[in-house]
Amino acid sequence: MATILTLAGDGIGPEIMTQAIDVLQAVNKKFALDLTLESGLIGGVAFDATGEPLPEETLQRARAADAVLLGAVGGPKWDAIERSKRPERGLLKIRSELGLFANLRVAKLYPQLANASSIKPEIIKGLDLLIVRELTGGIYFGEPRGIRTLENGEQQGYNTMVYSTSEIQRIGKVAFELAQTRAKASGNPAKVCSVDKANVLEVTELWKQTMIAMQEQDYSDVSLSHMYADNACMQLIRDPKQFDVMVTGNLFGDILSDEAAMLTGSIGMLPSASLDEQGKGMYEPCHGSAPDIAGQDKANPLATILSVAMMLRYTFKHEESAQAIEQAVSDVLDDGLRTLDILDKSEAGLIQVGCKQMGEAVLAKLQ
Ligand code: IPM
Ligand code: MG
Repeated sequence: MATILTLAGDGIGPEIMTQAIDVLQAVNKKFALDLTLESGLIGGVAFDATGEPLPEETLQRARAADAVLLGAVGGPKWDAIERSKRPERGLLKIRSELGLFANLRVAKLYPQLANASSIKPEIIKGLDLLIVRELTGGIYFGEPRGIRTLENGEQQGYNTMVYSTSEIQRIGKVAFELAQTRAKASGNPAKVCSVDKANVLEVTELWKQTMIAMQEQDYSDVSLSHMYADNACMQLIRDPKQFDVMVTGNLFGDILSDEAAMLTGSIGMLPSASLDEQGKGMYEPCHGSAPDIAGQDKANPLATILSVAMMLRYTFKHEESAQAIEQAVSDVLDDGLRTLDILDKSEAGLIQVGCKQMGEAVLAKLQ
């Protein structure tokens, strides 16, 4: 028996989580996976209930669980509270406390959605790229950090971008090995593009040198290229199919993964896995809590449902159930079902649905 802790969080979190849990329970039964689900508090709702965005109890239960499924955190209601208590801090803390240093974000275009993207269909047709984002280091966690008052009375904000060789090596290893696995599956050559700003930032100069040394020593079968972060943003729009695996630090990965998401039509489609050194993980959609549409049954539950598939694949090593979910998602898209974010109004024959109806449609395909 294995335990999964679900943390719905704020905004659209509860709505998308309800649909994802139904899907998870359906495959649990169908494939006799023997998974037990529990739920807990994180983010703004946790702050309201306990005064902490990540209560100790949630953290303990997350440590004890085999995997965590997260919805989203944050919203205007908590924007004004003290920084250390904000919902986002709860998310950063759980990532850090659980040692979830490897964040995998797959931007894969469902062919049915080629017209929902703002990019020309021929540029994105067949797109399948993986961003490996370092998640527990870099400028997100570097010390010193804060806002201080200078001698002249002016305020100054500061953060520190730091990476040690071992932190770079462990994320590099994940990227090189996933490139090898993907190459085996696709028959294409294995390639990794490491994104840095080595022309300006020493921290990423070390990043680049470390990647080069790893490739020379251990991964000579993987071709390694390097790109500055600004150019990488541009190349993602210009010709995203030049990439297979991109590996980068926390901040650049945050930015590049939102951009990559949009190539696939909507950030509402992008799942993610955050893994520790043993492969234990937290799974979450890449989108946020979307407070503007929360509670209106408008959210797209597919990124969370696809995060469940990633969980089955990476933590539970159950490829069959993962593929069954991915197939069910593809089937409902074939049927023309679209939430608002992936609806191309100029395309005939599409059916606009809400969050609940989309979840139920996926469920029906699984049964
Ligand atoms: C993400 C989000 C988070 C991040 C926020 C909510 C703290 O943007 O998961 O990409 O910056 O990592
Ligand atoms: Mg982000």
